[in-house]
Amino acid sequence: MSASTRVAVLASGTGSNLTALLDVAQTPAFPAQIVLVVSNRSQCGALDIARARGVQAVSLPVKEYGGDATARDRAILDTLRTARIELIVCAGYDRVLSDDVLAAYPDAILNIHPSLLPAFGGGMDAVEQALAAGVKVTGCTVHLLKAGAVDAGPIVLQAAVPVEADDDADTLRARIHEQEWRVLPEAVALWATGRLQVNGSKVRILAQPRQREGVR
Ligand code: GAR
Repeated sequence: MSASTRVAVLASGTGSNLTALLDVAQTPAFPAQIVLVVSNRSQCGALDIARARGVQAVSLPVKEYGGDATARDRAILDTLRTARIELIVCAGYDRVLSDDVLAAYPDAILNIHPSLLPAFGGGMDAVEQALAAGVKVTGCTVHLLKAGAVDAGPIVLQAAVPVEADDDADTLRARIHEQEWRVLPEAVALWATGRLQVNGSKVRILAQPRQREGVR
């Protein structure tokens, strides 16, 4: 944690959450700056958005590492370290991070997922899963990433979204996105101001910042 926390966004898709983060990060009082965007894709919306907004954009497709995801993730880690990244945000990143990356950033990787976890985790089709299950309420979750788990880890913030009778995946996803654009920047700000206290599987949101040790 520094005066303005240095954040990297990992993304594979259209990048609407990246846009929300970049917009709020322009607010002078926001305690974090988005300085790097990394994608596993050669091209995607998030990379285009980063370039258009003057943010370093790095594309690291696994095919450039002979299909070896661990080697690719070592390159991601080198990129993160070179950019002096303190907090990683996975915003529509569709790959599981290797243990090397997770170990290097303990309690310092946020992930956004479009369901109320632990329901409908583990993939990129949580909205479709919620519709198929017939739930009346779904939503989104920001959580910290831990080794050995996909779309799981201590929950920081959640927002509920009612499912309407005539929803399809597009209409429901659009309303979930609106909540994601609100809670993800909020979670980044809480992290950056030292207000997240992790106790095992639970996160307490502190009224006052705490002293952090071992800050990168
Ligand atoms: C978001 O809805 C995010 O929750 C989801 O991908 C979307 C990316 O949208 N992530 C997952 O499903 C992770 N399992 P965006 O590219 O417009 O930010």
